[in-house]
Amino acid sequence: MADLTALTGQALEQIAACGDLAALEEVRVHWLGKKGALTEQLKALGGLSAAERPAAGARINEAKVQVQAAIEARRTALAHASIEAQLAAGRIDVTLPGRGEEHGGLHPVTEARLRIETLFRRAGFDVAAGPEIEDDFHNFGALNIPPNHPARAMHDTFYFADGRLLRTHTSPVQIRALQERGAPLAVIAPGRVYRCDSDMTHSPMFHQLEGLVVGENVSFASMKAALHGFLKSFFERDVAIRLRPSYFPFTEPSAEVDMSCVFCGGKGCRTCKHSGWLEVSGCGMVHPNVLKASGVDPEAFTGYAFGAGIDRLAMLYYGVNDLRLFFENDLRFLRQFRTFSA
Ligand code: PHE
Repeated sequence: MADLTALTGQALEQIAACGDLAALEEVRVHWLGKKGALTEQLKALGGLSAAERPAAGARINEAKVQVQAAIEARRTALAHASIEAQLAAGRIDVTLPGRGEEHGGLHPVTEARLRIETLFRRAGFDVAAGPEIEDDFHNFGALNIPPNHPARAMHDTFYFADGRLLRTHTSPVQIRALQERGAPLAVIAPGRVYRCDSDMTHSPMFHQLEGLVVGENVSFASMKAALHGFLKSFFERDVAIRLRPSYFPFTEPSAEVDMSCVFCGGKGCRTCKHSGWLEVSGCGMVHPNVLKASGVDPEAFTGYAFGAGIDRLAMLYYGVNDLRLFFENDLRFLRQFRTFSA
């Protein structure tokens, strides 16, 4: 049998000389692999007498264990060294300025909606919601707009083949909120609405703010006060309002809400078409038929409702003159609203 001490010494020398893990693996295979130098020694045991075999086997195993341990130790040392090298080479200078990462911001319409929600919540309103795909009953019928009613022509409706439709206003949420919560209640419902219409002041998708207050003795005067208070808070200034008689099938009496022009203060300018007033909302006392259709007794309760365009409110608040800018998602436009106030 070969001189095990010499073989072991040779193996340990080679292990110590390994500069990386690949070299170490080669050395391991050379000595301990299937055909490795020490493995071969075990195979040679067969040529020994039965008396010699146990002692010789034990010595070979001892040598293997020693070599194995040396390889493990070397492997650990090399792994550590490589991590140390990586750390030394890839030092991070935390004092360097960042790589121009910009923080984003909320879309101006979202920002306006969140401010509106905050203002109404403070006044005791809940925020309600309904589906954008509606049925005829909620969008029209329950709102006192029966089939063939001429008011349907006011809404250029997108219909689905099954008769459902994209809601043309947020008023269907009035019905759903009353059905779900009953009276008394005070809710607003901001949301997307759809009409087949598109130009500088109309987009096929836009945002409305519905308001609905139903209770005992809810009056037209309280509606006027709520709208005035809201507009003053939203525009952060002392605006004047006036109500003009109007018509909506679901309110009676109905009115349009005008607000003194936020650009010229009422003197007259291009935005208010030199009238000094801006039209900002439709409103009125909830029609008894609407209460009935929602399961509320019109003898016991009265209510008011209003509907305003959120996009329009946002345009006036931010001084944006083309509605389409809100929906084109041009970053040069959106970057100008990078604030986090909501
Ligand atoms: N739903 C009406 C519209 O879209 C607005 C409105 C809502 C008017 C509530 C009165 C009361 O034009």
